[in-house]
Amino acid sequence: MNISFQSQVAVVTGSGTGIGYAAAALFAQSGAAVVVNGRRKQVCEEAAQQIIQQGGRAIAVAADVSTAEGAGQLIDAACGAFGGVSILVNNAGIFSPADFVNAPYEEWRRVLDVNLDSAVHCSRAAARVMIAAGKGGRIVNVSSIHSYRAERGASHYDLAKGAMDQLTRALALELAPHDILVNSVAPGFVDTPMSVVDGKNELDSEWFITNYVQQRRIPLARAAQPVEIAQAIVWLASPLNTYVNGHVIVADGGLSVTF
Ligand SMILES: NC(=O)c1ccc[n+]([C@@H]2O[C@H](COP(=O)([O-])OP(=O)(O)OC[C@H]3O[C@@H](n4cnc5c(N)ncnc54)[C@H](O)[C@@H]3O)[C@@H](O)[C@H]2O)c1
Repeated sequence: MNISFQSQVAVVTGSGTGIGYAAAALFAQSGAAVVVNGRRKQVCEEAAQQIIQQGGRAIAVAADVSTAEGAGQLIDAACGAFGGVSILVNNAGIFSPADFVNAPYEEWRRVLDVNLDSAVHCSRAAARVMIAAGKGGRIVNVSSIHSYRAERGASHYDLAKGAMDQLTRALALELAPHDILVNSVAPGFVDTPMSVVDGKNELDSEWFITNYVQQRRIPLARAAQPVEIAQAIVWLASPLNTYVNGHVIVADGGLSVTF
């Protein structure tokens, strides 16, 4: 299966590391011009440089996409460098546990700003450009199995990811007349910097190994590598996807099919 993104421009938020970087690299390998984004300038620049060294076309844009201003800067930079936006992947995210009752509201709210509001701001800015260009487009939201399962200490993240999948359905409806297809990929456990909480990688913990690997709560008995999630993102955004619209691909190794 050969996917070509020739003459396409892919903007991937939070793509200096993890799943976002893996998606940006795959888009670039298949011919897209790629916009690497994150908060940290140096991380973005190094990631873009790595893609260029592999033969791809990329620029780095450091911007905080949790604000409308930052999202606008990102989309403007994509248009300035490559003349438009054909694909937007809303991937930027953060997680840190917060007790619903006692956590400071600002800390709790920040998780919604980064995981959910960023997708709203970037989708609005990118959709305007796509609609004006009249060539259709693709938006892929990176949600999580947290969108339909809850975990203690994760009410903010659960809410953000659940709302993100609902945003996918709402935008699939609203943007379909412009031939813009909108879908989500919902990963389970993935081996990325986000798996490190309070300095410890939860994938190395006894809790994870006993439950999810040895007792096979994840039927595939392992976490995903970022590229395995990126492949689903890239397929949804590709010309091979002409009819999947408003849906969620759950990429969790089978974790959520049983109880
Ligand atoms: N790792 C997992 O197990 C897992 C599981 C399900 C879903 N996800 C989701 O996948 C996405 C990617 O996460 P990851 O696992 O690759 O972790 P990651 O920490 O490597 O990636 C998240 C990226 O988002 C960037 N980011 C954070 N705040 C930002 C902001 N305000 N503006 C711009 N960029 C910002 C970070 O700099 C980072 O590069 C996230 O949305 C996450 O919620 C991850």
